[in-house]
Amino acid sequence: MYTMTTENYDGYTHVHNLQEKALKEDTTEEELKEVYAAWSKTYDKDMCINLSYNGPAVAAEQFTQTLKEFGYTNDTRILDLGCGTGLVGEELKKRGYKNIDGVDLMPEMLEVAKAKCIYGLLQQGSMGSPECKDLGIGANQYDVAICVGVFTLAHVKSEGFDDLVHVVKPGGLASFAIRELALNAPQYGYREKMDQLCKEGKWKFVAKHHEAAYLSDDTAGAWFFVYQIL
Ligand SMILES: C[S@@+](CC[C@H](N)C(=O)[O-])C[C@H]1O[C@@H](n2cnc3c(N)ncnc32)[C@H](O)[C@@H]1O
Repeated sequence: MYTMTTENYDGYTHVHNLQEKALKEDTTEEELKEVYAAWSKTYDKDMCINLSYNGPAVAAEQFTQTLKEFGYTNDTRILDLGCGTGLVGEELKKRGYKNIDGVDLMPEMLEVAKAKCIYGLLQQGSMGSPECKDLGIGANQYDVAICVGVFTLAHVKSEGFDDLVHVVKPGGLASFAIRELALNAPQYGYREKMDQLCKEGKWKFVAKHHEAAYLSDDTAGAWFFVYQIL
């Protein structure tokens, strides 16, 4: 298990060690949990300062534009899936949203999010389970949902899209980000599942945006999608 102490803390080495472990092809769920348990306290600094992580800001900005186009107000009931330490919530709050709940696999990440006093309900839950059973949230509970930094290597595979469909009311919107390298990794099946849900009449495509400046160590960037739940 990776152990961080004040003696060995060097932001760059620290984040690269954690990222390497978190994103390697054969990382197990237990290893991923160890990574985030160890990372929670320095995640914001590591991601935002050392890696210039732009995902939450870009996602919130793009989603805000679409929400306005669809007539949603600042009271819109939003679920942030894989909310982690709450970076997405912070960006949504800056844009005026005040009714945001969060769900994440890791209690340690949720603890950091809780201290920011942005979210209403914050709860532990796991995306990607059969029939969304491990998410711990009932069907059609939210106007819209957002999910950033979660559909990526060794994290949540394409089954996680079912969780978005599950929690959002029919007619509502789901926004999510996927790094280019993950979108093009066939073993995760993201593209196929996005198309399959369209064919099955579960959601329809609304908007997409590519951002090259997603993480400083990834020049391929990321895609930000919005779908409407049907
Ligand atoms: C890279 S962080 C992204 C956090 C936040 N959305 C952001 O953009 O900063 C990935 C998050 O996904 C969470 N996660 C990983 N697997 C998950 C799962 N199966 N269900 C829910 N959350 C999960 C991790 O605990 C972690 O907080």
